[in-house]
Amino acid sequence: MAKLWCCWWPLTPLLFQLLINSAISRLEQATTPPLPILPLPSFSQLKWQQRELIMFLHFGVNTFTGSEWGTGHEDPAIFDPVGLDANQWVDTAVEAGVSLVILTAKHHDGFCLWPSNYTDHSVVRSPWRNGRGDVVQELVDAAKTRGVDVGLYLSPWDRHDRRYGRDLVYNEYYLAQLQELLKKYGSVREIWFDGAKGANATNMTYYFTEWFSMVKELQSSINIFSDAGPDIRWVGDENGSAGSTCWSTINRSKLAIGKAGIEDYLSTGDPKGRDWLPPECDVSIRPGWFWHKSESPKKLSKLLEIYYNSVGRNCLLLLNVPPNTTGLISEEDVKRLKEFRSAIDTIFSTNLAESCLLVKASSKRGGKEGGFGPENVLDNDHLWTYWAPRDDYKGDHWIEFTSGTDEGLRFNVIRIQEAIGLGQRIKRHEIYVDGIRVANGTTVGYKRLHRLEGGVVHGRVVRIRIIESRGVPLISSVGLHFDPYWHP
Ligand SMILES: *[C@@H]1O[C@H](CO)[C@@H](O)[C@H](O)[C@H]1NC(C)=O
Ligand SMILES: *[C@@H]1O[C@H](CO)[C@@H](O)[C@H](O)[C@H]1NC(C)=O
Ligand SMILES: *[C@@H]1O[C@H](CO)[C@@H](O)[C@H](O)[C@H]1NC(C)=O
Ligand SMILES: *[C@@H]1O[C@H](CO)[C@@H](O)[C@H](O)[C@H]1NC(C)=O
Ligand SMILES: *[C@@H]1O[C@H](CO)[C@@H](O)[C@H](O)[C@H]1NC(C)=O
Ligand SMILES: *[C@@H]1O[C@H](CO)[C@@H](O)[C@H](O)[C@H]1NC(C)=O
Ligand SMILES: *[C@@H]1O[C@H](CO)[C@@H](O)[C@H](O)[C@H]1NC(C)=O
Repeated sequence: MAKLWCCWWPLTPLLFQLLINSAISRLEQATTPPLPILPLPSFSQLKWQQRELIMFLHFGVNTFTGSEWGTGHEDPAIFDPVGLDANQWVDTAVEAGVSLVILTAKHHDGFCLWPSNYTDHSVVRSPWRNGRGDVVQELVDAAKTRGVDVGLYLSPWDRHDRRYGRDLVYNEYYLAQLQELLKKYGSVREIWFDGAKGANATNMTYYFTEWFSMVKELQSSINIFSDAGPDIRWVGDENGSAGSTCWSTINRSKLAIGKAGIEDYLSTGDPKGRDWLPPECDVSIRPGWFWHKSESPKKLSKLLEIYYNSVGRNCLLLLNVPPNTTGLISEEDVKRLKEFRSAIDTIFSTNLAESCLLVKASSKRGGKEGGFGPENVLDNDHLWTYWAPRDDYKGDHWIEFTSGTDEGLRFNVIRIQEAIGLGQRIKRHEIYVDGIRVANGTTVGYKRLHRLEGGVVHGRVVRIRIIESRGVPLISSVGLHFDPYWHP
């Protein structure tokens, strides 16, 4: 060891000098990126944001009783999904472009879809797979072979377990089950906590601090969802619609799980918020969360409206698709999801801005070619390559696209994305076509979609003006699209 160090030592100053020189010459060539504006997303939050569409699977005894909230008195024998095939669930998800599926491992009725060692109110007492089944394991296996990630929901409210209502023993029970789910099934990417509780439910304090610490201890890349984060927040409604102003930033100190009256704050976020806590929009493809024979999936036009109001407003869309009593996702839902994905692909696969002759901007950070020019908004990187104006530029910031053809551009959707890796910035923006304003709005965030109220526009020059922002705006992508399903 000592010898090696001796041989190294005489070389060190020279090597050091060389390294410094090469670093300096590289620094002279490239313009540094602008400073971020805090707060920033974590690595796992950034990964989550790019998923855009994720899927919820509400499944359990309610599927068989036709209810939304079970009583806790259900006989486990009613759970018998004879044709259950988690591969079909995950295939459906993959075809819909979903990369994360979240299962209700336990809903309010307390029935566990895995063989927990801490209760027998579970699949062990059901005829399904002769009491040897494990829905969580089957989902995990199916997801793994298809490269899809898994999330879990473990309802805090438990109407079956007799420990419920006694703070210490119930919290111990809940933590024991959390440990089972987070130790035994490999990587879990999202865990869902809510404050849902019936009006007459037994009083009970959940030890959220202990639960969340344990979750982070057991799963390093997990995101915790709840009304109050710490990683992902509820958007404040269950109809798949975020505020038209939607900040990923908020003050967690103002939030609490199950607290009433915070819905508007959750929906819009807070431009002064100290915490990065982006919203997730949970909504079901059907009227209910669980499968019911009499219900059918929403129309394509409704799903697209939900998409524009969630993904198009800086949110993630958590779309619930409930398996039926056979244990499969119903054919109508599979079909509707295919239509939904196909429509999204149709709308967004062509970006008319890419065909433009000229892209220019009010100013550009750094002098040389490359770096932070407006052409960056047309590449495939929607996070780390972006147009940045000069820090000291005083006028209005804008970016402009000019069509090279006489026909010009014909579109009805405008997509704008911010480089959120450096903080969410844009507060107000407007869009002009040949000098006429066609849309305006407040926040942009990871993705903002304007589906034009006035329908299709035709023009040669499209300008996006940033009227107000925290620091300089950083735009990572712009799209001009045609949505053939939009008939205002
Ligand atoms: C229950 O306990 C057994 C024996 O320790 C263990 O093998 C099994 O994995 C446990 N089940 C769960 C769901 O953790
Ligand atoms: C709660 O209890 C009241 C009074 O007993 C009853 O009228 C009401 O229906 C109950 N609500 C629920 C959700 O069970
Ligand atoms: C539930 O417990 C909390 C905290 O101990 C208390 O503030 C609240 O009044 C109780 N509510 C009911 C309905 O007993
Ligand atoms: C969604 O829910 C919110 C709050 O419950 C409500 O204000 C809004 O009108 C609903 N939007 C739609 C499209 O149903
Ligand atoms: C959030 O916190 C910031 C920083 O402390 C503060 O300026 C802002 O007013 C807070 N927002 C609300 C709604 O209280
Ligand atoms: C569940 O869906 C599958 C196919 O997706 C279908 O074959 C089956 O009949 C459905 N079960 C019920 C009870 O509707
Ligand atoms: C958009 O423009 C209208 C009309 O000038 C104005 O009333 C509205 O406040 C603007 N919206 C935003 C978000 O700036």
